[in-house]
Amino acid sequence: MPPVRSAFVAGNWKMNGALAANAALLEKLRAGLPQRKTAEIAVFPPFPYLDQVARLLSGSMLFLGAQDVSERAAGAYTGEVAASMLADFGCRYVLVGHSERRALHGETNALVARKFGAAQSAGMTPILCLGETREERQAGSTLEVVFQQLDAALSLHGVAAFANAVLAYEPIWAIGTGLTATPETAQGVHQALRQRVAKDDLAVAADLRILYGGSVKAANAAALFAQPDIDGALVGGAALDADEFLAICRAA
Ligand code: PGA
Repeated sequence: MPPVRSAFVAGNWKMNGALAANAALLEKLRAGLPQRKTAEIAVFPPFPYLDQVARLLSGSMLFLGAQDVSERAAGAYTGEVAASMLADFGCRYVLVGHSERRALHGETNALVARKFGAAQSAGMTPILCLGETREERQAGSTLEVVFQQLDAALSLHGVAAFANAVLAYEPIWAIGTGLTATPETAQGVHQALRQRVAKDDLAVAADLRILYGGSVKAANAAALFAQPDIDGALVGGAALDADEFLAICRAA
């Protein structure tokens, strides 16, 4: 029997939001979601709004996630946010290794792998983000790059840790640019990632959800989700527009 992986749509708000705008967006999402649970849906607001969003989501089918987490548990780390704190506010998911953190904050594969572990230690599910730059794609090194990103977490935590994890393949050249990988191109990378995990554990690989991210919109979501190894989306810009985000959720 083929594996049944429930579809997942994650809305990464990035550094966007305000009390009034968040409330308006969530009200529209709650009103527009199908009554029957079809896909798992989560939103990832900036840290200061986690409490507000947690309250506004209560009693809904939406889950809460955070955009980043410290690798450390507690102590003198000014500006950092510990995994236990995110769990305190009801976060179920944490993005680790988003390309904007890798590029703008110098996050290495090793650091991202430690953050992956920190999220799990607090009982949350990490969403490990992977992806190549335009130059790396043009040089033909896409798989080499994403395998290195994946292997850092695989070798530190072992394949069993991926039973409680999600992958998000986000080609950097497609993020916020309006360029999307074609469904076939994305599928090729997703399949390769799953095969990489399958070398260590077939069952974990079969159940592992792999999301696609990079300019996902209502107009291209269904074609992406039709691919056998694309299990959902990590949505940036379109997650701030209730109608777009709801349409992506329906497509999933
Ligand atoms: P985008 O962002 O949908 O705006 O391209 C995706 C992401 O960075 O998670």
